[in-house]
Amino acid sequence: MEIWSHEILSVIGPSNSGKTTFLRTLNRLSDLHTAFRMSGAVEMDKRDIREMDVEILRRKIGMVFALPLPLPLSIFENVAYGIRMQGVRNKHELEQRIEEALRQGYLWDEVKDRLDESAFKLSGGQQQRLCIARTLAVQPEVILFDEPCSGLDPVSTAKVEDAMVELKKKYTIVLVTNNVKQAARVGDKTAFFLSGELVELDKTDRIFTAPQDRRTDDYISGKFG
Ligand SMILES: Nc1ncnc2c1ncn2[C@@H]1O[C@H](COP(=O)(O)OP(=O)(O)O)[C@@H](O)[C@H]1O
Ligand SMILES: [Mg+2]
Repeated sequence: MEIWSHEILSVIGPSNSGKTTFLRTLNRLSDLHTAFRMSGAVEMDKRDIREMDVEILRRKIGMVFALPLPLPLSIFENVAYGIRMQGVRNKHELEQRIEEALRQGYLWDEVKDRLDESAFKLSGGQQQRLCIARTLAVQPEVILFDEPCSGLDPVSTAKVEDAMVELKKKYTIVLVTNNVKQAARVGDKTAFFLSGELVELDKTDRIFTAPQDRRTDDYISGKFG
């Protein structure tokens, strides 16, 4: 399969269909699992990712998880952490990068006057957008989202979706979602996974109006899953 920049690829499928495993293959998080075995190849910019420095690869390919996991630090420090790891010491540059990341994460206006407060004081939806900002702060090229709205209410979900749609202008986005409607709303293309297998990948409109595979049709129409 090919994943294009400036697009959102939605990945749908019932639980245990291999969606998370697929994402973790893309940034080699699966390498950490001793039983993991992989055949075939993943290429980024025509380079096999196994030949790339894993630290550089993971910086290029950021990941946002289902449960927002802020660090037990202030809002400011949560975003500053990764930027400092990149060796940025200049206060002005640091502040600029933090503001930019929080703006891109659609959170700036809500937190700009309380950057020194604990990240845990934020609502669940705000914490998730903080985690997105934290990922953006280290200037990745690709962002992998693994069910980023599964714990959020509809209002927070809509804000995260807005952020993703805005982000695709700059980044490549893969969105794993257990919410078929979300895939239809934000995905340019949609991939359907079942039992560790890619069943079908097409433009989102096509997947939802004229899927080629019976199993895709059954899944999106709610016959199983
Ligand atoms: N392509 C695959 N081949 C074999 N096993 C797989 C494959 N993809 C996933 N699995 C296994 O299936 C289980 C569920 O995978 P997971 O990626 O967590 O699914 P999901 O995120 O869709 O719920 C895991 O134990 C995983 O190791
Ligand atoms: Mg999963």
